[in-house]
Amino acid sequence: VATCRESVRTSFVKPEKIVVFTGAGVSAESGLNTFRDSGGLWENFRIEDVATPEAWARDPQLVLDFYNLRRKALESVEPNPAHFAIAELEKEHEVVVITQNVDDLHERGGSSNIIHLHGSLLEVKSSIDPTYKIPYPKEGLSLDHRCPRGGRMRPDIVWFGEAVENFEIAIEQLQQADKVLVIGTSLSVYPAAGLVHEAPAHAEKTIIALDLDFIPDDYRFIHGTAGEQVPKLASKWLEKG
Ligand code: APR
Repeated sequence: VATCRESVRTSFVKPEKIVVFTGAGVSAESGLNTFRDSGGLWENFRIEDVATPEAWARDPQLVLDFYNLRRKALESVEPNPAHFAIAELEKEHEVVVITQNVDDLHERGGSSNIIHLHGSLLEVKSSIDPTYKIPYPKEGLSLDHRCPRGGRMRPDIVWFGEAVENFEIAIEQLQQADKVLVIGTSLSVYPAAGLVHEAPAHAEKTIIALDLDFIPDDYRFIHGTAGEQVPKLASKWLEKG
């Protein structure tokens, strides 16, 4: 009887399109710093020194030091239950992850559709031909790393003042969502933050974070850690299907 009920249940589960929109908070419990919480990256580094094209022109070594540090940190962290729960949702639903993060924890957590808005630490690109990309060097990026045309290799990161990547695709995905789950973002950097308003009125909208200055009024706010709250919500969505 149990198997029959199971097969009946799964056959009646209507797959939904779930769009998950994440920020640094989803990786906090893996041990990666967020930006604006206490102890965040922007407490120890100035954005204008390490995360703008002007910084790269003025002191490229300082910029490389910053990103080599962040890339190295990836080697000692693992995806946390939030990353795994997001990947689990793919068992019964169509899931698209739109992330502001540049770490590889959604990839390693098993998600298969990931859109990076702010670039990633997985690759580096040529300063003069952004389509020329190679994996981020294990030994760290140095000023001697050059592309075939002699240009400096730079982190494949969208710096402040540069155009966000995959933005139109992200809007399209949100506009087709049945459920939108926002996790671990202060919604303080645009245009990424504006994506929360792209979801259709009928979509079920939830945001999981700790202290938030701004909560979109059509989102249900769950105050708590991603590692604890995302698995709870995901198991509810998988149970009811
Ligand atoms: N679980 C859930 N949420 C958390 C956790 C946690 N364990 N820890 C922190 N948070 C929440 C905080 O409440 C905060 O709202 O995550 C958010 C982190 O906010 P930010 O540090 O501003 O990170 P993020 O929103 O991703 O920053 C956006 O800013 O500097 C740029 O390009 C950078 O992509 C980044 C963008």
